[in-house]
Parts: sequence; structure tokens; C-alpha cells
Amino acid sequence: QELQLNLEAIEKGGYEHFMLKEIYEQPHAIKDTFRGRLRADQGLIRMAGIDQNLERFLNANRIIIVACGTSWHAGLVAEYIFEDLARIPVEVEYASEFRYRNPVISDKDVLIAISQSGETADTLAAIKLAKERGAFVFGVCNVVGSSIARETHAGAYTHAGPEIGVASTKAFTTQITVLTLMALKLAKASGTLSESRLHEMLSELEGIPAKVEKALESNALIEIISDVYKDSTNCLYLGRGYNFPVALEGALKLKEISYIHAEGYPAAEMKHGPIALIDEQMPVIVIATRRGHYEKVVSNIQEIKSRKGKIIAIVTEGDEQVRDLADHVIEVPESSESLSPLLTTIPLQLLSYHIAVMRGCNVDQPRNLAKSVTVE
Ligand code: G6P
Repeated sequence: QELQLNLEAIEKGGYEHFMLKEIYEQPHAIKDTFRGRLRADQGLIRMAGIDQNLERFLNANRIIIVACGTSWHAGLVAEYIFEDLARIPVEVEYASEFRYRNPVISDKDVLIAISQSGETADTLAAIKLAKERGAFVFGVCNVVGSSIARETHAGAYTHAGPEIGVASTKAFTTQITVLTLMALKLAKASGTLSESRLHEMLSELEGIPAKVEKALESNALIEIISDVYKDSTNCLYLGRGYNFPVALEGALKLKEISYIHAEGYPAAEMKHGPIALIDEQMPVIVIATRRGHYEKVVSNIQEIKSRKGKIIAIVTEGDEQVRDLADHVIEVPESSESLSPLLTTIPLQLLSYHIAVMRGCNVDQPRNLAKSVTVE
């Protein structure tokens, strides 16, 4: 028993929980994900799974992404990245809905399955269905040699290292990293991005781990904010564009580990329903980084304020406009909109972590949840 406890303490590397350790591992995990792939100085991305199947991707009618849970959120971010940079139409589906719907799919389609464990039953079943109908199936998995990695025609691993906490953290950011590399590689091959823009994006990507490190420096502030809202019963998360899926993921993290009801919404949809919920009891977490619909999000924040909602805003370093309106601001380093999810996710992970710890929840093994869902 004692030995077991000691072993676990060693595995946690000085952190109180695996989740916190894994949150802090992200700068390294992202670096590991592009190690051997990204050569920003040469404008190159090496990914054998794409190189060997380049024509399938470039001639695809569309890309269909299937996944569950947090991986599905990474898929939603990828939809923005692929369409914006590589100009390939993308649809993102819950694996469970896709497989039971008699989907229209043909040999001109490419299916990307995203899964940390590589064992999720619904995702695996969706892959089998797409293969039967002739689609080319590409896997983005973390666990090497997993069922999904074996069932797909080709793939790219995330190299996040083992993720123990049930709530996914570093798997999410490394999935986004791999999918960004893929989109940039396809953009280069199809010429949808100018050489100079491509070079810019590659070197920005290379600098992301240092920015994630910077974003983690808000931990102490986030702990203070968490203490204010730990007894909330509801929470709303808003984001727009690339950061809409981040809002969904932030809400999922809070639900999973703190058992507080939370919803993520596209900021502009607030007026079609959620605004009715806002009063002085309602914390609203708004992603309001400078690039991408900033002014629109600021006006959403004004609407929340005039209804006395509590505003916790994720902003770009040095922001002043939102600071004047919000109850709390958490800064992340400046970045292009397309890479911002890798940064804005970090404070949301930390917020849910601290709230869950303060509520006495079992952070690494939340009730009723499993790390890998092998039943349908
Ligand atoms: C479970 C886990 C989630 C995960 C989801 C999909 O619900 O608790 O953290 O996002 O499964 O898992 P996968 O391994 O396919 O990414």
C-alpha cells in the first residue's frame, strides 16, 4: 500500500494531481509533437502519413472529422484551420451520430478520426463504416499501436506522452498542433497560402510552447479567481471563431471535474437564448483575444455587464478595453487567431482544475467518467 502511494507520488512528479502535471507538461508535449516534423527555417513540414497520401487529400471532395468528447472539440478547431488555411471543406461529426445516420460518404472523401486513447468504441465503429464505403481514413491518436491507429489507412501520432487524468488536457493541445501541421502542409502543397504567410505561421508555431509557458504563469491569479466562483451552480463560456470550440472545451472541463453545470456557446448566439440566464449570480467566461472579432465580443461583454453578469475575460496581453468592463481578466500572449486556441485553452484548464480541487472533487478520476470509453 505504502509502496503504491510512493510510486504514485513519483509518477505525479511533485504535482498534487496528474491533471495539473499534464497541464504543465503542455509546452513540452507540443514541442514533442512537432519534433522531427517542423522545419520552420526551411519552410518544411515532414509528415510521412500525409506525404504518402498527398493526392488523396488534395483531391478530396471534403474532409469529415469524427471524434468524441474533447477530441471532438479539437476536430471543431481543425475545421476552422483546414478551411481557413487549406481551403478544403470540412464537416465535424460526433462519431456516434455519424455511424448511426447512414451518412453519405464515398471514395472521394477523407475521414480523419481523432482519439487520445485510440480505443473509443464509437470512433472505431465510424472508421469501419467509412472504410466499407471506400473513404480514405486517417487517424490522429496519442496511444501508439492502439486499435484506431491500426484500423486507419495512415495517421499521425500526437506524442503527448501518457495522459492519466480523465479530463483531457495535453492530448487536446497536441491534437490541435498535429492538425495545424497537417493543414499547413496541405496549404503549402495546394498553394492556398503564400510562401511568406506560410513561413510566418511556421515560425509562429515554433514559438507557441514558450507562449504556453507564459500563459501558465497566470496560475496564481486563476487560483484567486477560482475561489470567488467555486460555489457557482452554473457557468457560461463564450467564444467566437477559432475560440468558439475553446469555449465548448472550457465548459466541458468544468462539468467533468467540478460537477458545475456549464455551457459553451458561440458569443453571437448569446442573444438567442443564454442571455435570458444572465443575472448577478452567473459567471460568464468570455474569450476576447485581440485578433478575431474583438469588437463584436466586446459588445457581447457590454451586454453581459448591463445584466450584471460576472465577467471573467481571457484577453491578449496589454488589453485595456476589456479590462475596464470585466470583473477579472486573465492574459495570454499575443498570437494570430488561428493559433490562439493553443493559448486560450490553458487558463480554462487551470480554472476548472482549481475550482474542482476547492470543491473537494476527485480531479483525476471524476465520478461516472472513464478515460477510455470502449462501450457504445
Ligand atoms: C472520454 C474521456 C474524454 C475523451 C473522450 C474521447 O469521455 O473522458 O476525456 O475526450 O472519452 O476519448 P478519445 O480517447 O477517443 O479521445
